[in-house]
Amino acid sequence: MSISTETATASKPTTAFLASQHRLLIDGEWCEAASGKRFDVHNPATDEVIATVAEGDSEDINRAVAAARRSFESGPWSRTTPSERGRLLWKLADHLEEHLDEFAEIEALDNGKPRTVAAAADVPLAIDLFRYMAGWATKIEGTTIPISVPYMPGSEFHSYTLREPVGVVGQIIPWNFPLLMAAWKLGPALATGCTVVLKVAEETPLSGLRLGQLIGEAGFPPGTVNIITGFGETAGAALAAHPDVDKVAFTGSTEVGRLIVKAAGESNLKKISLELGGKSPNIILPDADLDAAIPGAANAIFFNHGQCCCAGSRLLVHRSQFDQVVEGVADAARGIRLGPGMHPETQMGPMVSRIQQDRVCGYLEAGKSEGATALTGGQRPEGSGYFVEPTVLVDTKPDMKVIQEEIFGPVVAAMPYDDVDQLAAIANDSIYGLAAAVWTRDISQAHRLARRIRAGSVWVNCYNVFDASLPFGGYKQSGWGREMGHEAIDLYTQTKAVTVQLS
Ligand code: NAI
Ligand code: MG
Repeated sequence: MSISTETATASKPTTAFLASQHRLLIDGEWCEAASGKRFDVHNPATDEVIATVAEGDSEDINRAVAAARRSFESGPWSRTTPSERGRLLWKLADHLEEHLDEFAEIEALDNGKPRTVAAAADVPLAIDLFRYMAGWATKIEGTTIPISVPYMPGSEFHSYTLREPVGVVGQIIPWNFPLLMAAWKLGPALATGCTVVLKVAEETPLSGLRLGQLIGEAGFPPGTVNIITGFGETAGAALAAHPDVDKVAFTGSTEVGRLIVKAAGESNLKKISLELGGKSPNIILPDADLDAAIPGAANAIFFNHGQCCCAGSRLLVHRSQFDQVVEGVADAARGIRLGPGMHPETQMGPMVSRIQQDRVCGYLEAGKSEGATALTGGQRPEGSGYFVEPTVLVDTKPDMKVIQEEIFGPVVAAMPYDDVDQLAAIANDSIYGLAAAVWTRDISQAHRLARRIRAGSVWVNCYNVFDASLPFGGYKQSGWGREMGHEAIDLYTQTKAVTVQLS
């Protein structure tokens, strides 16, 4: 294995972690895949191999599910108190904080994102999420319900509800925010008392494995969290179809979301939550503060190289300001420093994989052939990394692929509008409904549009604002359920109604 020049600049703990033997975490033990197979992990900035990991498949999923089932049914996890669960989650957050720089480096090397961004956003958000969910562990309550039972006159009852953990949960996560997606999934599952089999993305398995080590060090009992590295079609599909998994939580493509629903339907009707694609409208109204809206529009699409399910990928600007705004966003794009995530001055790294680079470039070609024009960008730079230039597309039409389909890269498709009254209709012209933003100084207009847009998150005069306490998820084909906030607790619990006859 050749070691990339970038890994040489990583800190000692990161270098040592990368060089260690990466295995599967099953029942508290690190073990090889049953098949003995392994696969390479690439640094997307250089295409070099930075590690190899175990290639788990259905047999490893079976072992992991059995461990999670044991821990759920007979303990130790099912015997922990809410307070113990809260303390362990808080401790995990503390451990993560101690290793913040190491995680930021791992994300930079594995995913390609700037280390500085991972250190400022991904890792702190994951820490905060675990702390937020630690607080919930002791606050999951049922209710008492006065009942009448008309056909049993004279009888007295005491009825109440219990909120109970859903059980063994399979979690399948993508590569765009590897650590953060693991936190979004694990936090509420552990707070509620579920046990987990986590399948990390094949493109970015490393931070999940490092997190698995911290989970052990924090003191979570064996079998509570099992972590499998492997491919979607094998390990992921086996988890989705497993008859002893009570719920699957998935983040990724809408296409795979459908496969998960099908697998659940054909196995045990396990519960499902889905966080899928988006084609989010970013609307600039004629009265907006353009000094904020233009950089805001650039951030909306270029943050994380556009590899965000909620990226502001449709820029809607009033025709009177269209040229000024798209030129401003194009200028911002031209000023972005592309480079390896480990370089301190890098503002945008490569796409996560060659496949993703090809996919994004395919959309650039499709846009061109349908008549769209790249005001800036539109190319893949020379070199071995998986880079794509930040791109602003104009001359777009509502039915173009670049307007309708999720590109998942640093490509914004801009469209002018004439009629403010029709904005909600234009914004809603999508199979997706994950996020939207409105830039305006008109408070009433902002709130009116916020109500009319069918999306799970609406930002006003900002974009990409996330918090552990804010529910996040999709309308329409963007998904089922909400992660984060107290709604995440609902995703991992079910209600039991208990009725006692008193007389
Ligand atoms: P994907 O949906 O194939 O992968 C996401 C996760 O699902 C990975 O862990 C993968 O191993 C797993 N997976 C794949 N096939 C599976 C199957 N048959 N059964 C169970 N699990 C399976 O996404 P991919 O191929 O990496 O990216 C394709 C497109 O998906 C992107 O261009 C983007 O549009 C969208 N996407 C959306 C994300 C989001 O945050 N909503 C994240 C990643 C991708
Ligand atoms: Mg895929």
